[in-house]
Amino acid sequence: MNYAQVLNELETLVNDTFTLWEHNRVGFQWRHYTWNHTMRVRAMGMELGKREGGDVKLLEVAGTLHDITKRYDGVILTDDNGQRILDHNGFWLNETLTPAGQNIVTELYNKHDLHGKVHHESGAVITENILEMYDFESDFVEAATAVVLAHLKPMNLTAEDFKLLYNRVENQILYDADTMDPNVGYTAFFRNIHIHSYFALQRGNFDLEDYVRNLPRWINSKQEFVDKLLTESSREVAQARQDRNQHLFLQMVDELDDMEINRKYGLLGIIEYFVSVTEDPHFLNQLDHLQNEWLPLRQQWLAEEEQDASARDRAQAAIDRVDDFLTLLTRESNGEI
Ligand SMILES: [Fe+2]
Ligand SMILES: [Fe+2]
Repeated sequence: MNYAQVLNELETLVNDTFTLWEHNRVGFQWRHYTWNHTMRVRAMGMELGKREGGDVKLLEVAGTLHDITKRYDGVILTDDNGQRILDHNGFWLNETLTPAGQNIVTELYNKHDLHGKVHHESGAVITENILEMYDFESDFVEAATAVVLAHLKPMNLTAEDFKLLYNRVENQILYDADTMDPNVGYTAFFRNIHIHSYFALQRGNFDLEDYVRNLPRWINSKQEFVDKLLTESSREVAQARQDRNQHLFLQMVDELDDMEINRKYGLLGIIEYFVSVTEDPHFLNQLDHLQNEWLPLRQQWLAEEEQDASARDRAQAAIDRVDDFLTLLTRESNGEI
């Protein structure tokens, strides 16, 4: 078996599967979100695997497949009182969204009657069936299936059940990577701005100053996620990400004192860029745009414009902040930090 080729086929399968649905936004997800998230979680999982002495290949394969059935998730079901309905493990139950197209994943989904199952359970069944089609050792298939199943943690697990579900470090690691990506660090900020601005625009308008000033409420609410992660390495990485977001807030709130320059050259300008393209944001494409078009254009403006020395210095400092932001966002996205 050529591992690189198999991995490539699995990636293509996952990416193709995500495109089988016609809807864009459901709750806090949008069309391109799941693929970008999958790639980031896989990268982070592999890095944590190296640090914790886990099986990096296992994390690569399981990371690729972990959300394979996520696009079946529709709106969260609520009861007559508007309360979200939980299953016996404390997971929110979703409406099941039917794909417009078919492939091997949807065939398996129907064959094993996975409708109504939360996506870590259905994803585990799909993972097992897909990997069995290749020449993986049966132990490896079993382990990958277990990692996918454990990527969501049931509430109120007994100590005994916890040991069963998270017996392998890889199970803990993928859970941690999957929890970190949407909750802490610049990757979480990217998600937050696109959720916040989408709903703000639907209500009428996005208030930049308000958004920035309220960031600490969101950042602080995430501290408990950091503290409850399962491995030491994850808590270390996540705390650094959390501190990074606190620092980002301080930079942004300072930028409010010099609006004109910073909306044009600084982090405030980055926020406004995100808000301008929030319908179905593609993380990697937006990152690429910011690095290869947005930032160079500002550097060009600065070189060409006639400004007094103070304005030029402030614009340069704003550009430097953006440069740092994009560097760190890229490194987070690659699972390095
Ligand atoms: Fe998931
Ligand atoms: Fe995920």
